[in-house]
Amino acid sequence: MTENRNIPTHVAFIMDGNGRWAKERLLPRKMGHREGVKAMKRMINECDAMGIRYVTFYAFSTENWARPQEEIDELFSLIKKFAEGELQEYSEKGYRIRILGDVTQLPEPTRKALEKIVAASKGNSGMCVSVAINYGGRQEIVNAVNNIIQSGITQIDVDSMSDCMYTYGIPDPDVIVRSGGEKRLSNFLIWQCAYSELIFLDKYWPDFDRSTLEEILAEYAKRDRRFGKIARLS
Ligand code: FPP
Repeated sequence: MTENRNIPTHVAFIMDGNGRWAKERLLPRKMGHREGVKAMKRMINECDAMGIRYVTFYAFSTENWARPQEEIDELFSLIKKFAEGELQEYSEKGYRIRILGDVTQLPEPTRKALEKIVAASKGNSGMCVSVAINYGGRQEIVNAVNNIIQSGITQIDVDSMSDCMYTYGIPDPDVIVRSGGEKRLSNFLIWQCAYSELIFLDKYWPDFDRSTLEEILAEYAKRDRRFGKIARLS
């Protein structure tokens, strides 16, 4: 199969705007998160259909613990249901499932459901679906450095540092997409984003569908990825 340079290998999504989507419809925030899960499923299917090999979603940041307990409970209940339902199906379909973040602090039933599916899908060779949960980019770097110190290594390079990240073995994202209109990364993949293309869309996450992915891929195809080299003439 010839490589299509216009199709990114790895697309990462910052799923923002669930709350505003619900508010505009006079619905409780939890309805926005539930629609957000449906949008995740759509994007997983569409990304696979487009031949994207790695897809990553920012589901719960280390800062999200500051939200009301009721919303945190709703999010973890959705994540557990997602692990037992859709992730299980994806694993059976041959996808690899990875969780990025410190799972030790998650409610035990959620953690166990996630660990089970990660283990079950370990040998799969299909698309890799990563979900960042209790994830923070700075915490990821600190965790990596602590692991390096504990192992007694006294010198590292970029590749060995990358191997200590939650994303070990996963290529850096070619493109990071944020929904909901804000133009920042919010502590997401800050080590891995060094050469990622950034795309910010005003559309709220629950409204993401195939046409949004087509829009993203069209924008990505226009970008001149130079990785420090000189600009293309023409
Ligand atoms: C940001 O929207 C979204 C989140 C903090 C959570 C994203 C979670 C999901 C899509 C559902 C749960 C995930 C899984 C893996 C099942 P926001 O609430 O900050 O929206 P706002 O900025 O409009 O208030």
